[in-house]
Amino acid sequence: MVATITTPRLMAVGGGALAELPGILQRLGLARPLIVTDPYIRGCGIFDRATALLDQAQIRWQVFSDTVPDPTTAVVETGTSVLAEGGFDSLVAIGGGSSIDTAKAMSVLAANGGQMRDYKVPAEIPKAGPPLVAVPTTAGTGSEVTRFTVITDTATDEKMLIAGLACCPIAAIVDYELTLTMPLRLTADTGLDSLTHAIEAYVSRRASPYTDGLAKNAMGLIARHIRAACAEPENRSAREAMMLGATTAGMAFSNASVALVHGMSRPIGAFFHVPHGLSNAMLLPEITAFSVPAALDRYADCARAMGVAEEGEGNQGAVARLLDELRRLNRDLTVPSPREWGIDPRRYEALLPTMASQALASGSPANNPRVPTSDEIIELYRRVYG
Ligand SMILES: [Fe+2]
Repeated sequence: MVATITTPRLMAVGGGALAELPGILQRLGLARPLIVTDPYIRGCGIFDRATALLDQAQIRWQVFSDTVPDPTTAVVETGTSVLAEGGFDSLVAIGGGSSIDTAKAMSVLAANGGQMRDYKVPAEIPKAGPPLVAVPTTAGTGSEVTRFTVITDTATDEKMLIAGLACCPIAAIVDYELTLTMPLRLTADTGLDSLTHAIEAYVSRRASPYTDGLAKNAMGLIARHIRAACAEPENRSAREAMMLGATTAGMAFSNASVALVHGMSRPIGAFFHVPHGLSNAMLLPEITAFSVPAALDRYADCARAMGVAEEGEGNQGAVARLLDELRRLNRDLTVPSPREWGIDPRRYEALLPTMASQALASGSPANNPRVPTSDEIIELYRRVYG
């Protein structure tokens, strides 16, 4: 089997890496960036530090700071008009996955025209647009290194997956110091998202020996440090481990794909506005229990990589420990069930067929070790409701 691997051309990784921003743009021959961010990052000091660096290097920039959580086609279209008008040669996204995903989508629309839904998987993206330098401020989505963007269709509430080389940033600046001020809930939710990426990349039917190493490395880092990063926000070694874990998990799933958890998570996020990492975490233990019989050895490896099973322990025992740990993590990090989150049971039940069909259409469930039918997905949604 030949694995095709996509990664950014250039990465700066480590505490203080933000200072590399002007040098990275210059090395790539980029002189006129549009910065894409959200109102919080614009006001919290990180944006000012980044733009001071650009000013010192006499790089002329402008900013679009209207990105929103769960980015929508409406916001992407506004951003694309700003991009088209200013004579920009590049994008710099500073923020969480939402800002990075918005910038990716703006680049795709600027180069190809049409509507975002024209590029929903399995559609191809004909042309690459202005290159993107991604600067994540959360340890979570891994979007800084992936060939995916997820955009919610304003007209239908569908969270659309858009994939291709055109969505992969040209460069990433991975600076854990930017995450030191992340609040607890965001640390937990984004950390659980990256743990899900690592596990799903490892058990995916599209996993390869190349992605396996990245995924196991990420699982080890995240599982060993997520509680400390949540409990002690200023714990630099925990923050550094979480950031490395998030980025390596991103490199793993960008090239091995995610699976059933993400497929089922996107409709929960789209219809009930549950943050992405949280809706993954609501699903992760039960989907893992459902999938284990089809890939016992792979899930046992996950338990060993996370440090919850001994190297010599048998697969059955290791998998039992994995399921215990996933449930315990959700308790420790106070992950609610959909019921506890306040999702109306009647609306949930009524939407299940639509959610199941959107989950299947995203293609992600087909990568799962155990590929579910639509009825099985509906049953799993009922089981996790709580
Ligand atoms: Fe994710």
